Amino acid sequence: MTREPIATHRVAHVSDSHFTASGLMHGSVHVAATYSGALAALEGSGIAIDALVHTGDVADAGEADAYRAAAILTRETTQRTGWPVLWAAGNHDVRAAMAAGLLGEPATDGPLDRVLEVRGLRLVSLDTSIPGRVEGGVDEAQAEWLRSVLAEPAEHGTVLALHHPPVPVEVTAMARLHLEHQDRLEAALAGGDVRAILGGHLHYATSSVFAGVPVHVAPSTAYTIRLTRPAGGIIAVDGARAAGVLSLYDDGRVGYSPIPADPQHVLDSTPEDVFLAMGVDVEH
Ligand SMILES: [Fe+2]
Ligand SMILES: [Fe+2]
Repeated sequence: MTREPIATHRVAHVSDSHFTASGLMHGSVHVAATYSGALAALEGSGIAIDALVHTGDVADAGEADAYRAAAILTRETTQRTGWPVLWAAGNHDVRAAMAAGLLGEPATDGPLDRVLEVRGLRLVSLDTSIPGRVEGGVDEAQAEWLRSVLAEPAEHGTVLALHHPPVPVEVTAMARLHLEHQDRLEAALAGGDVRAILGGHLHYATSSVFAGVPVHVAPSTAYTIRLTRPAGGIIAVDGARAAGVLSLYDDGRVGYSPIPADPQHVLDSTPEDVFLAMGVDVEH
């Protein structure tokens, strides 16, 4: 029988919460409630989670009140769960306001690149925002910083969190909002121990591989962008929100499972002992 690998770490992933000072997005979405729904889905999943990563666009317009709301709501969950949190900045974020209001650090206009260690797993956030721009980038100093962080391997490797994911863009109109300098990022990852990249920005769930590393993109907790668009363009919808869980296994593999964040109606529920006692043959 095939041996199932054992997860040594699990990292919860949310993105694009787009907190606003008014509390609303697109006139009717209560972004605090949708964000809380994503955290509740993670906490209620029963999955043993080691850390929470947010891949940016925490706030929609960088208001101090928006970061305060994000910090308070996140703390409501993490003070119960004990999850350490790593934040990555997105194009909608304002670095100084995010540093002061969310990270509890002195306000700075410099990139918010951070490292968090969790039981031998290294989580690195790389700030791909370019102040005043929508597309993302990695400057030479950041690439050098990342190379220096990765120079020393971590016991269980590294997970890289960034906002603008280095993946092909399926919604073609969004390609102009993409990550620039991908060759610079690729060079910085060469020979390093990055096992997975987590991203956001696109507002739809997707996966790819970059520089040999799997990339997983979480949709937004606020509103999502529809891949099916008969007349083209960009269609924002009130639904299909999800968080994600990245599992890192003892055989070196990783897995990524979307955790739907919108309310769901349970159709049936089978206790584990009953399920295990059931036959596996197809019954007709
Ligand atoms: Fe976003
Ligand atoms: Fe974004």
